[in-house]
Amino acid sequence: MSTHIIVNKKLDSFNKKINISGDKSLSIRWLLLASQAIGISKAYNLLESDDIKSTIKALKQIGVSIIKKNKIYQVEGLGINNFNIKSNCVINAGNSGTLARLILGVISGSSKKIKLIGDNSLSKRDFKRVILPLQKFGAKIKSKKNSLPIHFQGNEFCRPINYQENIGSAQVKSCIMLSALNTKGTTKIKAKKSRNHTEILFKKIGIPIKINSTKNYDIIQVKGKNNFSSFDYKIPGDISSASFFIVLTLLSKKSKLLLRNININQSRTGLIDCLMKMNCKIIMKNKRKYMGEELSDIYIESSKNLRAINCPVSINSRAIDEMLLLFIVASVSKGVSRFKNLGELNKKESKRLNWGFKILKMIGIKTKKLKNNGIEIFGKPDNKLHGKFEIRNYLKDHRIFMLSMVIALTLGGKWKIHDKESIKTSFPHFLKTIKKLGAKFS
Ligand code: S3P
Repeated sequence: MSTHIIVNKKLDSFNKKINISGDKSLSIRWLLLASQAIGISKAYNLLESDDIKSTIKALKQIGVSIIKKNKIYQVEGLGINNFNIKSNCVINAGNSGTLARLILGVISGSSKKIKLIGDNSLSKRDFKRVILPLQKFGAKIKSKKNSLPIHFQGNEFCRPINYQENIGSAQVKSCIMLSALNTKGTTKIKAKKSRNHTEILFKKIGIPIKINSTKNYDIIQVKGKNNFSSFDYKIPGDISSASFFIVLTLLSKKSKLLLRNININQSRTGLIDCLMKMNCKIIMKNKRKYMGEELSDIYIESSKNLRAINCPVSINSRAIDEMLLLFIVASVSKGVSRFKNLGELNKKESKRLNWGFKILKMIGIKTKKLKNNGIEIFGKPDNKLHGKFEIRNYLKDHRIFMLSMVIALTLGGKWKIHDKESIKTSFPHFLKTIKKLGAKFS
């Protein structure tokens, strides 16, 4: 059943301070690592979304005890590779690519057979990227067309591998690092740069890891089979969820917003760097370090006279989940913006690059396809929308829903946006939070 939202009115000016729910990448990583620690770990502000619920369910299925007490999640770790995997175990990763790819690394040291499945969207995504390195470790994997369902059997005697990761996918890198944890000896990964939360966590909790960096790659060495102690974590706000509110404020009239306690790890802040170059008013306040991550409050003001951007490809992985928001800002900026090498966007929860072209066309913006999955966006600084618009995203992509809401609330027009339940994936409080700013919808 699909539920929809009607938006007929732009957002009036606002001046607010809000919190954003916990980081999805860190919530999943904390659960996976805490499950393998020795002792009880606690997390505060863990994201409570469907992707995290799927992670908790999967871990409980393989013998991990996880409880919630007074808003705090507690995980009783079993130590490395000490899961209790029953025969015919079926793990359902739901919509979560991160869970599906990382859990295979986590269980790669067990020779018990499991079947990994996911929802309609996840079942269309590519798993060759993790199948290849996991096979090198010694896992046996059967799948049709390198996608879900996958029949997986790890190996108690995994071999350490040398692997070059050329996609720039943190999910692939993390899958290999988690598999390295189960493997005696040193695994070496040369990985194209991508978000580095797993590396930071490994270091902080005492897993032997060495990192050398070049301009585009990180060379990571992980020494496996070393137990580590439980660890507590206060999960900071998710920059990817915050990004919808950043762009919403920039494009609203006479508005100000303070987002509290957001993780601004530089491997995640490509959107902010681009927006600043485009003349947007964004100020980082009260920057601080926590568990190796950089946190900050983010202050945003409505911005005018936006300038087009020629986006360097090094931004792509740093804004992988935010790129379409950047397209919308480009659409109201003066000049022609250019983005290149965006093929990975079509491998997400839905084909997001295609969605980018489609939505820009819908809102009257001229675009040009460039070779190698590039796009040119011809900005229209005074783009005001009239008439009716409808967004039906049949793969229920949470980020397409939230993006459409931002457009409807800032550019005008009468919008019917389907699949509101998709926000449960990453940001269940999205609509409540947007209401706090005064948004009207039914
Ligand atoms: C994630 C990595 C990114 C991102 C996803 C979360 C992670 O995917 O799109 O939402 O937590 O590692 P890729 O690493 O596959 O690009």
